[in-house]
Amino acid sequence: MEVLMSNWSNVVQSLPEKYVFPPEKRPGKDVFPVVNDVPVIDLETAEGHGRGEIVHQILHACQQFGFFQVINHGVPISLMDDTMNVLKEFFGKLLVRIQLKWVRSYCLDFGCISEGLGLKLGYFDGELSKIQLLSVNHHIPCPNPSLTLGMPEHCDPNLISMLQQCPIPGLQVFHQGQWMNVDPMPNAFVVIPGLQLKVISNGKFSSPIHRVMTHPKEGRTTMGTFLIPSHGMLIHPPHHDPLYRAFTYQEFFTTFTKNNCDADFALEYFKNKT
Ligand code: OGA
Ligand code: NI
Repeated sequence: MEVLMSNWSNVVQSLPEKYVFPPEKRPGKDVFPVVNDVPVIDLETAEGHGRGEIVHQILHACQQFGFFQVINHGVPISLMDDTMNVLKEFFGKLLVRIQLKWVRSYCLDFGCISEGLGLKLGYFDGELSKIQLLSVNHHIPCPNPSLTLGMPEHCDPNLISMLQQCPIPGLQVFHQGQWMNVDPMPNAFVVIPGLQLKVISNGKFSSPIHRVMTHPKEGRTTMGTFLIPSHGMLIHPPHHDPLYRAFTYQEFFTTFTKNNCDADFALEYFKNKT
């Protein structure tokens, strides 16, 4: 019998051993609260009279909350829906993780973030966001979500990540000392500052720790756009008292991946020692 990945959990009654996480890394059977105050920033007037206020909201969201969602971002809703539908159809038949480099994406207005940090307009254009990686994650239904994770806890090492979630919950952030669900919001992108933004903001922004739970009945698809500095780009906080020494993104990424993707370790490694 042909087993489509979408039917996998109907066929496989318990999670195969190799996917079971060690006890201390399992999410467990807790019921996780929902973060219901994720800042939602409406970009409708970002190009016009609302810009100052939007810059302020983004700065506030990054500093006080760690991440945010955007609506009225300029990507047509029909395009978001069509893309998600195509991906669902695709993953209904197959299980893979695809990564496409150099995809021209609709560019959200990161001018607002550079302005909020007091940097010149266009600071994030060019080498700092040279690579736009479109990465699609699909997690099939899992008979035992308490024993495993779709994606283990991590910080994104890049500059900025944007996620389009499908309507199935699964994304969690470590917020106020506990894991909480970031429920999908229709037509929104979740914007997650990566570790490079933490460095460039000289520690003003942090990069949220997040992970992905699996769902017992439904497959879950997320489309992420990851802005990644070109590998040879020299990164350093444009600040008179920089917390971090200059490094290339390549150096950072290698240090990060060679040390279990431990964000604290990588950040500490590149700290200026006084
Ligand atoms: C990632 C990520 C979240 C998701 O790819 O870095 O955190 O919901 N994805 O798939
Ligand atoms: Ni991530």
